[in-house]
Amino acid sequence: MGRKAKIIGLGSYLPERVLSNQDLERMVETSDEWIVTRTGMKERRLAACDEFTSDMGYMAAQRAIEDAGIGAEEIDLILFATLTPDYIFPSTACLIQKRLGLINAAAMDIQAACTGYLYILSVAKAYVASGAYKTILCVAAEKLSSIVNYEDRNTCVLFGDGASACIVVGEDVPGYAIENVSLGADGREAELLILPAGGSKRPASLETVQQGLHFLQMEGKEVFKHAVRRMEDAVTQCLSAINLKKEGINWMVPHQANIRIIESLAKRFNVQRERVYLTLHKYGNTSASSVGIALDELAKGGRVKGGEHIILFAFGAGLTWGAAALTKCGVRSE
Ligand code: ACO
Repeated sequence: MGRKAKIIGLGSYLPERVLSNQDLERMVETSDEWIVTRTGMKERRLAACDEFTSDMGYMAAQRAIEDAGIGAEEIDLILFATLTPDYIFPSTACLIQKRLGLINAAAMDIQAACTGYLYILSVAKAYVASGAYKTILCVAAEKLSSIVNYEDRNTCVLFGDGASACIVVGEDVPGYAIENVSLGADGREAELLILPAGGSKRPASLETVQQGLHFLQMEGKEVFKHAVRRMEDAVTQCLSAINLKKEGINWMVPHQANIRIIESLAKRFNVQRERVYLTLHKYGNTSASSVGIALDELAKGGRVKGGEHIILFAFGAGLTWGAAALTKCGVRSE
């Protein structure tokens, strides 16, 4: 069994610059009406030219450390989720370690695309349960604007930049207990959502640049179908692991990829619209960081009561997917 993992601090960061649907109308053949009805998105945030994934992750991490009320030196492991690292190597986790001065911490990146936050939460839960690490900083950050083709209307309306973070410990203190994290993956569909070049298979060359192979590519319709089915399975598995009926769900915090996907999932689990926390209208899809940003905003809003259950779920490239169940425990100053 081991120690029960708890989130004791949350943080997030969004860059200042706003890219609205009206801005996109001036860039590609699209309309506010198409974007809102097909995705639910109205605005997204873009990082400044000199602002990188590690910078946004650093801001979110600092806020989570402050929220947890711990000293940075207590952190003994950093887990970083991103598909837009500053470099292929060294890891962005190591860059954050330097910025925060966490000399006592081991550090690693974990790649699970939009499911990244749930993957690092799962690893953190297992590590504190085993006793291998005591105080873990989980960070998810993305500068998707660095890999989006702003001439491709199929993808450029969907994505934004941002970061989120949390502190996970194995102590019996107030916070959000991580009851279960259920993960999945299907590499057979790896090409549905991909950044084709820049890795060892197709290193950067004049040709890869000319062919636009350093931009994200997505088969939207296919991904949509997998997303609904896989997230439904993950949430079902997660509820069953902790013996919670769907009536027991108090809040849903979904990956913010598409309002139609989210509404379909909420309907399947009979969760009222006002109990589903949304940020996609203002931030778009921020990949790995999206669930954490929404969770931070929900928690800071002060509406979650002690004993209530929050179900997080996400889906992304890989394909990867997952769901997590949290329970708010004890009194916590918001
Ligand atoms: N503006 C206007 N028209 C557009 C736009 C646009 N921005 N984008 C596409 N269209 C057009 C298409 O060209 C197509 O036209 P056609 O019929 O003449 O060919 C038409 O609209 C319909 O396109 P579809 O792709 O069928 O539209 P769909 O309803 O499937 O919506 C979307 C597209 C929003 C991408 C949707 O499929 C989706 O959300 N997919 C899942 C995304 C997701 O969950 N991703 C996983 C996480 S992301 C990650 O891991 C990084």
